[in-house]
Amino acid sequence: MLLKLFLCLLGVGLCASQKEVNIESRIINGKDGNKCEFPWMAFIKNYGQNIGCGGFMIDNTHIMTAAHCVVVTNKTSKVSSAEPSANLYVYVGSSDLGKMTKFLVKTVTPHEMYNFITTENDIAILTLASPITFNDCTKPIPLVNATTKLLDEDCKVMGWGATTDSEKDAGPSTLKYATVFIHNEYKCQDLFRNKLPNLPSSIFCAKGRGGSDVCRGDSGGPLVCKKYTAKEYFVHGIVSSNLGCNSQTGFYMKVAFFIPWIQSKIAK
Ligand SMILES: *[C@@H]1O[C@H](CO)[C@@H](O)[C@H](O)[C@H]1NC(C)=O
Ligand SMILES: *[C@@H]1O[C@H](CO)[C@@H](O)[C@H](O)[C@H]1NC(C)=O
Repeated sequence: MLLKLFLCLLGVGLCASQKEVNIESRIINGKDGNKCEFPWMAFIKNYGQNIGCGGFMIDNTHIMTAAHCVVVTNKTSKVSSAEPSANLYVYVGSSDLGKMTKFLVKTVTPHEMYNFITTENDIAILTLASPITFNDCTKPIPLVNATTKLLDEDCKVMGWGATTDSEKDAGPSTLKYATVFIHNEYKCQDLFRNKLPNLPSSIFCAKGRGGSDVCRGDSGGPLVCKKYTAKEYFVHGIVSSNLGCNSQTGFYMKVAFFIPWIQSKIAK
């Protein structure tokens, strides 16, 4: 199955040399998730910008995703603003895109300091107009603790491979996941230098496991880990950008870095 990634969407400047704004790729060694294996997943359809993204529930009215999924991007200049895009819907409750429940979005809150050139602060919170009712297949996921050390660990990313041109979508598809390995920051700095000189401390890198063509799930989706001390998965990262799918290198927002920002937004 072909999955489309928007990872370069925000980094239009960063991806300019690749000519294409959207990278089309497949998670060759990705796997179908079991029906309720990733119950926190949300699909975000941004009709205003005509893109689809992943996201995840953190409580019954808040969904987290990447800022570039929910802000206004000038289609001509490819410049993204921090201005929230209109006409967004959130879908939750199934791993099958065709069986999800639709929710209206009341407020779109991209990070005020979102920078589409450096990709810093590529994080956003959506507040739903009505609460989600949880069940076994529909549940929030805890965020990483600020002190949790996560280096050289295997984690997972997941997504539906949402597309900008919905006409070309083959219809409902099943959530896929891939296992990724978290790079330490020295390795990550080396990799990030392909884009910009300095790796911001709010960004980390991970590499797809299990074959040269392993890519990742969609932008805005979670990178989840289950450390030996934790019984359940928690969110460590948000899918943000990459160097192209064949590079096997993805850049993620470090959720621990944003805990104070997240708390200030959901407390409102
Ligand atoms: C989009 O960018 C183009 C080229 O820079 C500019 O002429 C146009 O006014 C911009 N559109 C909006 C809505 O800002
Ligand atoms: C974070 O810390 C709290 C309090 O110590 C603990 O209950 C929770 O399970 C931890 N969460 C994770 C994801 O480690």
